Amino acid sequence: MEINDVGVPIERHVGEGRVALTPEVVKRLVERGLKVKVTSQAGLKASFRNGDYQEAGASIVTQEQALSCNLVLTVRTPGDEDLKYLKRGAVLVGMLDPFDRDNADRLASVGVTAFALEAAPRTTRAQSLDVLSSQANIAGYKAALLAASLYPRFMPMLMTAAGTVKAARVLILGAGVAGLQAIATAKRLGAVIEASDVRPAVKEQIESLGAKFLDVPYETDEEREAAQGVGGYARSMPPSWLTRQSALVHERAKQADVVISTALIPGRAAPTLISVETVQAMKPGSVLVDLAAGRGTEYEGRRGGNCPLTEADQIVVKHGVQIVGYTNLASMVPADASSLYARNLLDFLKLIITKEGALNIDLADDIVAATLLARDGEVTRKT
Ligand code: NAI
Repeated sequence: MEINDVGVPIERHVGEGRVALTPEVVKRLVERGLKVKVTSQAGLKASFRNGDYQEAGASIVTQEQALSCNLVLTVRTPGDEDLKYLKRGAVLVGMLDPFDRDNADRLASVGVTAFALEAAPRTTRAQSLDVLSSQANIAGYKAALLAASLYPRFMPMLMTAAGTVKAARVLILGAGVAGLQAIATAKRLGAVIEASDVRPAVKEQIESLGAKFLDVPYETDEEREAAQGVGGYARSMPPSWLTRQSALVHERAKQADVVISTALIPGRAAPTLISVETVQAMKPGSVLVDLAAGRGTEYEGRRGGNCPLTEADQIVVKHGVQIVGYTNLASMVPADASSLYARNLLDFLKLIITKEGALNIDLADDIVAATLLARDGEVTRKT
């Protein structure tokens, strides 16, 4: 199939400020001979104007026209009001929640060929199109900034004529892409940082950023093996290790001024790392930014995060602790989040579109095979 046109609709999810393509990447696609159609004002929240897209060679169209192209690029899964405009056999590429089976069924039912970029393998070749990394990096940065702005004291140690102010103590739980960026950002703000992760490989990375690694030594082969993870990701740890980790986190959280938690396990509920008792023991005025908000286990009828008290998309005060549960921190830095995402998309498109502009879905390519979510009315990926 020839890719005649590429559509970039406006994102309609509440709080979504990102756009799938930036003028910079539009230009690259136009140079490859593709016609790009952008919904009017699709880039506005990310600081890109219609005129910027036009200058890059795109045409400005209605939402329906953008969604009726034979390649549609989105940030998130289109809602039903948009899905109805997608043509059968069209290709949809975006962050399409590969672990959400209902969502995959919905996409399959409209007959699109859908690629969920979050499902790309964590390999060297996939690095430049890794949307989880590009967006988690931004989320980690924003988490540290949000914590700094809510914390009622200074982050750095200051010596002033009026007296000395102590540096804030920051505890980071989960040192993947987001956690490491949170460490780097809090460090630049002058905080004193400790961090924990299940994967032993991150100890060196934590220390190289100037933070202290909180070690929970493994006591059994089962614990050691689980900690190695799979495909670069963490697996659920045995209860024995989690109990010891929880005791250490409790002690460290009591001393902390800020806790940033980022622990996730793909396709599973996020682990509970900060119990209600730990929140009760934390200092009044301290801040918990929970990047796993809405993805944890169920507590009092809704899903928490790494802490059961976290409420998705809210800031709540519990036992004197401010708990931030924003679920889309990357979207709070919409211009750069879109720029990095658009470059990820461009690198992915090179895998499925030939230089002549034809669609070529090569299932022998591990990235293409892993991200293909639905095709010909069927869900192709095991969710
Ligand atoms: P993630 O977002 O799935 O999880 C965040 C962190 O939480 C991980 O470091 C995980 O080990 C940790 N975690 C899980 N359970 C925990 C617990 N009970 N206590 C403490 N920490 C816990 O992970 P992310 O950030 O997506 O990175 C996963 C891995 O993939 C990393 O090793 C990263 O270096 C690697 N990676 C590889 C890429 C590539 O080669 N293309 C690109 C990006 C990341």
